[in-house]
Amino acid sequence: MNKLSKNDDISPEHQVAKIFEWRRGFNVTYLISLGIDLGLFKYLAQTPASTPQQIAQSLSLHYPYIETWCKTAFAVGILETENCSNYILADHFDKILANDTNPRYLGGYVKLGVDFAAKDFKFSIEAYRTGAKVPFQNRSESFAETVGIAVSGLHALTTHKLLPGLNGFNKKLERGCKILDVGCGTGKLVFQIAKKWRNANVIGVDIDKKGLSIAEKQLVKSDLKTNVEFVEGDIPAAGKPNSFDVITMIEVLHEISPKIRQKVLNNCYRLLKKEGWLLIVDETYPSKTEDFRKKEYQFPIQTAFEELTWGNILPTAEAQEKLIKSAGFKTKINRNIIGEGFTILEVQK
Ligand SMILES: C[S@@+](CC[C@H](N)C(=O)[O-])C[C@H]1O[C@@H](n2cnc3c(N)ncnc32)[C@H](O)[C@@H]1O
Repeated sequence: MNKLSKNDDISPEHQVAKIFEWRRGFNVTYLISLGIDLGLFKYLAQTPASTPQQIAQSLSLHYPYIETWCKTAFAVGILETENCSNYILADHFDKILANDTNPRYLGGYVKLGVDFAAKDFKFSIEAYRTGAKVPFQNRSESFAETVGIAVSGLHALTTHKLLPGLNGFNKKLERGCKILDVGCGTGKLVFQIAKKWRNANVIGVDIDKKGLSIAEKQLVKSDLKTNVEFVEGDIPAAGKPNSFDVITMIEVLHEISPKIRQKVLNNCYRLLKKEGWLLIVDETYPSKTEDFRKKEYQFPIQTAFEELTWGNILPTAEAQEKLIKSAGFKTKINRNIIGEGFTILEVQK
């Protein structure tokens, strides 16, 4: 059937229901954000079976509003109750919404929407007329911090699964090796790797002063000063050619201006030792019309929409592979899609 002709099987009610579902999603996003800001999820994780009265009293909040928040959260399945008098978090939401050190925590992703994307969408009215941008760099420390928390699940995945899973790499990690995290942001991945492999030398490089300032403050407070370093600027400032065993780029490739992407990858190639690994975790934009409704592309498509006015352009799979090959990598590129639609690319020099 021609996709541009009308489909009589779809009723107006069906389309109306979609709008109501998306609009509910908007409210639920704000309900979750409120729950995080007011400490409701943490409280319910620590004090299950609490009544709205107890929650309101303990956190000095307005009881009638908390009661409605609890009933609404129950209606959408975030809370459970037997009698609408006391409430617990529904299964797994303690990890997903109450514990920001858990790899499954998604509070940062919700806050990125409410605290930052909402403002970007307001700015979009003007930007869609003029093409204006507000880039990632130097927005605020709280923006850099929220982004770091939003992607922290990927740091755990990289530290505990992807790095040790690189062929022949587990022993190197234990014995000691040199790792460069390009676009390190607030340095969360750098610290995780350095804590897990105490013999590793881990360097983070970024062009964002705000993220690096958080990373530096953290480093001063840590016991990792001898094996961690942060560098502001371009990749060559981070080390000598042929000196790194692994270079990681977590949610960075799509953030780099397309004009300099090839240069960045060329520099990564140059800094890697022979047989060193480049490990990219990023998002892939569909290149074919038939892929736009596939599940694995829904998350990247929303990222591209949300980050449009940051100046970000998500690369397609073809563009990613061209960049990697043109940088000089000749071995097979391992490609995997995980979770909601993150792409993992692994290639060896
Ligand atoms: C989404 S953040 C991810 C931060 C970090 N990798 C993490 O996982 O928390 C993207 C980062 O890439 C950095 N970036 C963008 N272009 C860069 C470039 N040319 N060189 C180094 N870093 C860059 C940004 O400043 C930002 O800190």
